[in-house]
Amino acid sequence: LFGFETNKVSGYFEPIEPSKEDLLLLPKGYQYDVVAAFDDVINEAGEKFGQGSDYNAFFPINGSNTHGLLVNNHEYTNIFSIGPIAENGKWTQEQIQKDLYYQGMSVIEIYQDTDGVWKMDTSSKHARRIHGSTPFELTGPARGSAVVGYATQAKGTFANCSGGVTFWKTVLSCEENFSETAERAGLPLTHYGWVVEIDPFDGSYLKKHTALGRFNHENTAMGLTADGRIVVYMGDDKKDACVYKFVSAGKYEASKGRANSALLEDGTLYVANLKSGKWAPVTYEAVSKLLAKSDFKAPAGVKGTRDELLARFGSQGDVVTNCHEAALIVGGTPTDRPEDIEISPFDNTVFISHTNNDSHGNIHGHITRIFEKDNDLGATEFDFEIFIAGGRQSGFSSPDNLAFDSSGNLWVVTDISSSSHNKGVYKTFQNNGLFVVPTHGPAKAEALQFASAPVESELTGPFFTPDENTLFLSVQHPGEMTTDLNKPTSLWPHRPGDPIARCGVVAIRGFKLG
Ligand code: FEO
Ligand code: CA
Ligand code: CA
Ligand code: CA
Repeated sequence: LFGFETNKVSGYFEPIEPSKEDLLLLPKGYQYDVVAAFDDVINEAGEKFGQGSDYNAFFPINGSNTHGLLVNNHEYTNIFSIGPIAENGKWTQEQIQKDLYYQGMSVIEIYQDTDGVWKMDTSSKHARRIHGSTPFELTGPARGSAVVGYATQAKGTFANCSGGVTFWKTVLSCEENFSETAERAGLPLTHYGWVVEIDPFDGSYLKKHTALGRFNHENTAMGLTADGRIVVYMGDDKKDACVYKFVSAGKYEASKGRANSALLEDGTLYVANLKSGKWAPVTYEAVSKLLAKSDFKAPAGVKGTRDELLARFGSQGDVVTNCHEAALIVGGTPTDRPEDIEISPFDNTVFISHTNNDSHGNIHGHITRIFEKDNDLGATEFDFEIFIAGGRQSGFSSPDNLAFDSSGNLWVVTDISSSSHNKGVYKTFQNNGLFVVPTHGPAKAEALQFASAPVESELTGPFFTPDENTLFLSVQHPGEMTTDLNKPTSLWPHRPGDPIARCGVVAIRGFKLG
C-alpha cells in the first residue's frame, strides 16, 4: 500500500491504475451507490433530475450524516436528453425547451438505508427543480441598470457548473458557458454569466449577485478576511482569463444567519495581477481613471477604441457586466483557464486549478497556490507558486474541481476533453479520474489516483459529508461523443435494460475512521 500520513478520511488506499473501461473504478474496499441519474423522478410533482451533473453540496437534516438534502448543478444537455440535432444545425422548439428544463439545479432528499445504501426520497417536500425558466432576483450594481435592460429579475439559470456553500448554508452556483443556450432561446445575454444563490430549504429564495461579476464562472470559494469581512474567490473558465476575489464592505455576523447574504451585494471586486503580485480593484473608478488618459491603449483581449470603451463603461453596473474586459484594463493577468478554487482549511493558502491552455502549449495544466500577504484573505498583495503540474510525472492532466478533506488532502478531478481521450499526449492518462494530493507531510504534492471515470465522462463536484464517511461525486457526460442513439459509446451506469448513458451523482462509501 502507498501510504501518506494516516488520516481519517482516506486512511490508506491502494491507488488504482488509469483505465479505459466504461466503469467507475475505485480502490479495493470502496463502493458506490447511484443516488440520482438524469431524468429520474425526484418528487411527487413528477419533476425530473437534470442533465450534466456537476457541483454537489450536502446539507444535513437535524445534524445527520446519513440524511439530508443534496443540491446538484446541471451544466448542459446532450443527445441523450434532446436527441440528435438536425443536419442544418437548427434546434426544434421542443429541443430548446428541453435544453432549458434539463439545465439548472436539483434539490433532492437522500438518506442511507439500514444496509448503508444511499437512496433518494421522492416523497420529500424539499425536492425540486430550478431550471431555465425559474425567476431570479437580480441584486447589486447591475440590477435595474441599462446594460441589463433595466431588469430587476432574470428568467432562469443554466450552464450551472461548479459552486460553493456560504457560511449561512446557502448554495452559490456558477453560470459558466451560458451563451449558446441564451442565444438559442432568445434570452438577453446580460442576464446570464452570474453567480446565483439558492437556499436548499427555502424554494422562494433565488438571487443573482451581480457584484460578483459576469463572466464564465466556474466556482466560488468563501473565506473571511482578518477583520471579519467575506471573501469570495472565483475563476473565469476561459483561455486567457483572470482570477478574481470579491471582498464585502460589511462584516460577517454569524448570528444574522441568511441576512449575511446582503454582504454579497456591496463590496469590491478584485482581479489578480500575477506580475505585480497585487489585487487590482475592478471598479468604475479605476476603469474610468485609465480611460480618461488621452494616450490610453487597450490591452490585448479588449476590443474597441477609447471612445467606444468610454461608452461601454459608464457605471459600476457596466463594469461588472463586462467584467473580463474591465479586468484586463485594470491590469488583470490572463491565465490558463482558471477553474475551481479552494481555500486550505489549514493555512489559508488558496489553490487554483488552471486546467490547460493549448494556445500557450500548457497542455496538461497545473495547480497554482496563492499566499496572501500576512496570511490575510483581505490582503491586496500576494505571492504564488505552481503547487503541482499536470503531465506524465504527476500522472494526471487537466485538473478541474478541487475539494479539501480535514486532513489537508486535496481531492482533484480531471477534465481531459472527450475528443482527446486516449489520443496523442493524453494517451497515458486514459479516462478522466479523481486524484488525492496531500498538501503537507511526506507525500506532499504527489497525486494518487482514487477513481477512474466511465468512457467519455469527467468526474465533477466532489463533496464530503461532515463526518467524511461518504463522498458525493458526479459522473458528467458519459458517452458524450455518441452521434447515433442506437450506438451509445457508454452505457454507464449500466442499469438493466437502459439503452442510453446517464450522467448522475454517486455516493462513495468505504472510508474508514482512522
Ligand atoms: Fe464547467 Fe469549467 O467546467
Ligand atoms: Ca468544471
Ligand atoms: Ca466539462
Ligand atoms: Ca471542466
